[in-house]
Amino acid sequence: MKKKFLGVMLSVAMVASLLAGCGGSSGTESGGDTPATEEKTDEGTDESADTGSDDGNKLVGVAMPTKDLQRWNQDGTNMQKELEAAGYEVDLQYASNEINTQVSQIENMISNGCKVLVVASIDGDSLGTVMDQAKEKGIKVIAYDRLIMNSPAVSYYATFDNYMVGKKQGEYIEDKLDLKNAGDKKYNIEFVTGDPGDNNVNFFFGGAMDVLQPYLDAGTLVCPSGQTDKDTVATVNWDTEKAQSRFETILASNYSDGTQLDAVLASNDSTALGVANALASSYEGKYPILTGQDCDIASVKNMIAGKQSMSIFKDTRTLASKVVEMVDAIMKGGEPEINDTETYDNGDHVVPSYLCEPVFADVDNYKELLVDSGYYSEDELK
Ligand code: BGC
Repeated sequence: MKKKFLGVMLSVAMVASLLAGCGGSSGTESGGDTPATEEKTDEGTDESADTGSDDGNKLVGVAMPTKDLQRWNQDGTNMQKELEAAGYEVDLQYASNEINTQVSQIENMISNGCKVLVVASIDGDSLGTVMDQAKEKGIKVIAYDRLIMNSPAVSYYATFDNYMVGKKQGEYIEDKLDLKNAGDKKYNIEFVTGDPGDNNVNFFFGGAMDVLQPYLDAGTLVCPSGQTDKDTVATVNWDTEKAQSRFETILASNYSDGTQLDAVLASNDSTALGVANALASSYEGKYPILTGQDCDIASVKNMIAGKQSMSIFKDTRTLASKVVEMVDAIMKGGEPEINDTETYDNGDHVVPSYLCEPVFADVDNYKELLVDSGYYSEDELK
């Protein structure tokens, strides 16, 4: 299979680069959730522009949004581990979901002479100026998981197929409610998606709605709260408490009379957790189908306990490996492998992308996907 082949190629490349002795040590502080405070040192110099040359500089800046969500910790750790194993020096920073913090962290990475930037943005629209600085210095930028919008500086995008994530969530609901054969039956559904500044939301919600909207149009699915448009169902910062409080209001206004809730489309696990908390405190009917994404430990535990039906599994090891391959190709003056040149227009250009494949996990297959693959130990899920 293609994936296996890539895995083998990556291992070969990593061993080769280690044998070649290009191992820089990880001298940089791998970030806590605090603003980077280092002084800029080489502003105005243009030495880091030569990304293809082997001047011994192997610094890769990795900017992650927050430590609050489990997945970004895994993404950061996996990437650091793999980049270092491949001989690169890594400056890994987390920004507490503060846009200004992320901007200053990236400025520092640029000043410190990084050659490649890997950025999972907090708000895809807020990095324009710092991206311009990166471009001026010839630094290649890989947008990680979330696309950086309206910037010519973004060279590549590595992510999971975000449209497919939403589609699989919608299909899960379609399948479990057997909507194709619903006849005259009607089912109640509510919607919760993520941060309005995250471009992925357009794909998650869009993919799910491409499956579910026809059933809403036909009256097979009914949304008692009437909240079906993307902006109304958004959750700032993908925040669990915000999702919970919105959902408590929905339950109080529409379901307190015993109305049955059949399904909740939640775009990820942090919002699904908010929904599950609200259901626990404010809903007495039969538990609805509840979707999610990331396979965070709390959500997998909820899945095992019957409080969340599924979660999309995006193996962060796969994405990290792909990005390490990309960085390696760039550092060696080559072109990284991409598999999509059409989908992700950031408003400035269509960004060459590598899309990894998401799969769904539920109580029937989580052991095989998550435990047997070594992603989690059985104990972590207890
Ligand atoms: C990621 C999801 C994550 C969400 C909240 C999205 O951009 O693709 O995996 O759950 O952000 O952090």
